Amino acid sequence: MREKAIGVFDSGFGGLDIMKGIVRELPDYDFVYLGDTARMPYGTRSGQIIYDFAKAAVDFLFLKNCELVIFACNTASSDALHRIQVEHLPQNHEDKRVLGVLIPAAEVACQLSKNNKIGVIATSSTVRSKSFIREITKIIPGMKIYQNACPLLVPLVEAGEQNSEMTEIALRKYLKPLLAKDIDTLILGCTHYGILEAKIRKIAGRKVRIISESRIIGGKLKDYLARHPEIETRLAKNKKRTFYSTDLTDNFRRLGSKFFGDKIEVEKAELR
Ligand code: DGL
Repeated sequence: MREKAIGVFDSGFGGLDIMKGIVRELPDYDFVYLGDTARMPYGTRSGQIIYDFAKAAVDFLFLKNCELVIFACNTASSDALHRIQVEHLPQNHEDKRVLGVLIPAAEVACQLSKNNKIGVIATSSTVRSKSFIREITKIIPGMKIYQNACPLLVPLVEAGEQNSEMTEIALRKYLKPLLAKDIDTLILGCTHYGILEAKIRKIAGRKVRIISESRIIGGKLKDYLARHPEIETRLAKNKKRTFYSTDLTDNFRRLGSKFFGDKIEVEKAELR
């Protein structure tokens, strides 16, 4: 019976940009979004705390009738996803699935890079975890990966400063060491960076291919569902979207609608 939803989880509202891309590819399905705004940012926290938060989020989304959950958050995908898949799901939600954004981004980067030099910009936690390096070198062992943590970008976007000179200066500073390494492909490894894509493109120049997760995750999920009919046939197709946040801030309502590209109504989530 088709009655289950697709869950999308992020530390905040940045994941709504990824969800927008998923809904574009899979418009008929039902979705439940959860942003953990009360505990955001994740990008400066330790691996254990990120795991604990992500586990509570997964439990919440399964309680809300999700069949599978997408971690739109790169930090949660880096620090918690693997452990959730090998420890938490087998013990507590045996027939459910949780997928992340890193492997799809790594696959596309490996396809696109011609000179085998890939740049990654992400939060400090994602860079510290080396998860992009791990996933990319699993696909192409000889690939050279240059990472840079960009701690100022999330707060700048949150403050609505995406078009300001401050953001431009920060971006130039963060991209400079990667461009100096002659990268030809750049992964925007954080939910919030998709909204800065045009600016990043301008600074990086035409020679650098930019991978924005909001453009690729929908297509990858569509492929996944085609390969997994045992999951797909349980998914409802009523075009229902429900949005939860652990804190009901004005920012979430205002910027959330902007990231999602449509007005959203947000309900309060209590995580255990
Ligand atoms: N959602 C996070 C990510 O994609 C960025 C925001 C945060 O630090 O919580 O890594």
